[in-house]
Amino acid sequence: MIGIIGAMESETAAIIRGMEQVEAQTVSGVRFVCGKWCGKDIVVATAGVGKVFAALCAEAMILTYHPDCIINTGVAGALDPALEIMDIVVAEQVVQHDMDTSPLGDPVGMISGINQVELPADEKLIKAFTKAAETAGAKAVCGVVASGDQFIAEQQKKNLIRGRFNAACCEMEGAAIGQVCYVNQVPFAVLRAISDGASEEAVMDFPAFVKKAAKQSINILTEAMKTL
Ligand code: ADE
Repeated sequence: MIGIIGAMESETAAIIRGMEQVEAQTVSGVRFVCGKWCGKDIVVATAGVGKVFAALCAEAMILTYHPDCIINTGVAGALDPALEIMDIVVAEQVVQHDMDTSPLGDPVGMISGINQVELPADEKLIKAFTKAAETAGAKAVCGVVASGDQFIAEQQKKNLIRGRFNAACCEMEGAAIGQVCYVNQVPFAVLRAISDGASEEAVMDFPAFVKKAAKQSINILTEAMKTL
């Protein structure tokens, strides 16, 4: 079974609409929808925004459904200047840009206990998404996805995250799902379409493009499902 998590309804609704043999159950306040999609068994959930909801959702999904892998689909703010709205980012690694025990001598982003800054996404899923984006004619960048409990809409903050982690994009869930999957030894992937540039204009661009970008990420996921 493939687990799919989106933060917002716009990031999951089109998947749920396309499912067959649907059964749903609520665990820890999260609605998990099981069924067939693109000929495969999946469980999909709308986690809510931010790292805590994302982690809670991933953990509940793993304990309840034992998925073979978890895919996080959705939108992101661009940090790589080469990225434009509707382009795709496939995470090679995820980082939590707001994890900071640096006053104690640690690198910014290091997760105490795991003692790593970057957590690697699953190679097979990375390849499948990269190939799917190519087939769909979408521009895709593979790189670092930086997550934090902040909507980034400021050039200075954007530069800081890009400078520290060389991240391709910023969002608010991927690295939390990555940490939960890492601890549980479940392969994971983060697939995002750009909804805004994470600078001051993001407050206009995000509401204007969120639906279209969320659908773009699902389109690439749909294409990739043929090979998963
Ligand atoms: N998701 C989409 N755009 C974002 C941004 N600018 N900051 C954080 N999360 C986002």
